[in-house]
Amino acid sequence: MIRVGIVGFGFMGRTHYKCWKGLDGVDVAAVCDVNPNIEEDTKKAVGNIGDTQDTVDFGSLELYTDFEKMLAEAKLDAISITLPTYLHADCSIKALSAGIHVMCEKPMALTDEDCQRMIDAAKRSGKVLQIGHCVRFWPEYAKAKEIVESGQYGRVIAATFQRLGAAPMWSADNWFLDEQRSGGMALDLHIHDTDYVQYLFGVPKAVCSFAAKGPGGALAHIVTQYLYDDDRVITAEGGWAMTPAFGFEMSFNIALEKATLVYDLTRDPAFRVCPAEGAAFTPEVEASDGWCLQIAHFAKAIRGEELKPITTLADSMNSVRIVAAEKESAKKGQKVSIR
Ligand SMILES: NC(=O)c1ccc[n+]([C@@H]2O[C@H](COP(=O)([O-])OP(=O)(O)OC[C@H]3O[C@@H](n4cnc5c(N)ncnc54)[C@H](O)[C@@H]3O)[C@@H](O)[C@H]2O)c1
Repeated sequence: MIRVGIVGFGFMGRTHYKCWKGLDGVDVAAVCDVNPNIEEDTKKAVGNIGDTQDTVDFGSLELYTDFEKMLAEAKLDAISITLPTYLHADCSIKALSAGIHVMCEKPMALTDEDCQRMIDAAKRSGKVLQIGHCVRFWPEYAKAKEIVESGQYGRVIAATFQRLGAAPMWSADNWFLDEQRSGGMALDLHIHDTDYVQYLFGVPKAVCSFAAKGPGGALAHIVTQYLYDDDRVITAEGGWAMTPAFGFEMSFNIALEKATLVYDLTRDPAFRVCPAEGAAFTPEVEASDGWCLQIAHFAKAIRGEELKPITTLADSMNSVRIVAAEKESAKKGQKVSIR
């Protein structure tokens, strides 16, 4: 039995709870949140995809408001770190140093120095540290990668990825809108597509980004071209500038020589392969979501199963570095190399 704790019981903490509860051989034993009213507030919660108001059985949980007390007392094997981003590095390092496997939400940290500290702590501890780059596990994105890599439809000519919604307003003190604590829209939201671009095509040699600011002066919308050594056109667009009535769109179009792969969460069917000859079709994908699939992967990793590496710590750190280059490019109005 894996004894699991969750620290930060907001939108993602509840999402991890639901995913952990769906796995055999797992005991979700403890939850820590600084909010003393977490039980009541859980009933009113919202997020960007789906809702996470599934019943949480607080009766079966040890509740903590102090993270270090939970580490010392709850006898955990593994922990989900679903805290605001500025707390990821220090809390991951504390948990790893206490001999606990860590599943930490994305982005890995605010800076590449903090990412490196986390990597060093994971190495020292010998414990698993996995970062929640859930899009790599998202069934349609995983299938698209499989199709691209099979080579059956030839090479990629162009690909574009979108992630668009209203600014997240669900956090109690609006930490998302504070660049110092969240890294802003690009690091918080758009990094999902940056990371998937890296997963499909590798680290780009440079990025060229354009960005618009919102009313408060913070970056609200970004469009990036990822530059490689050939003429492929790879772009991603992310933004918090949409109105709440717009909802949430995550989508991609991948143009291969002999097929176009299309995904758009807001359409039905959301996923289609449109081959050069014959009708479009929807491939079968896993009946789950990227959040739960990544946690199932993490659970296997801590049980010592041999696994195909889907996300690595070096990749997670690279995604933080690439987003930093995107922000720099948008600010300077010029192409920025990825060092
Ligand atoms: N993978 C995804 O699709 C996805 C989606 C949304 C958010 N995220 C990431 O997940 C993380 C959390 O985001 P969220 O939407 O759950 O935020 P949230 O604001 O809903 O939840 C954060 C929770 O942490 C608690 N908290 C704050 N400081 C604490 C501390 N010192 N000790 C214990 N609890 C503390 C807060 O009270 C709150 O309940 C962020 O890094 C965010 O970028 C990922």
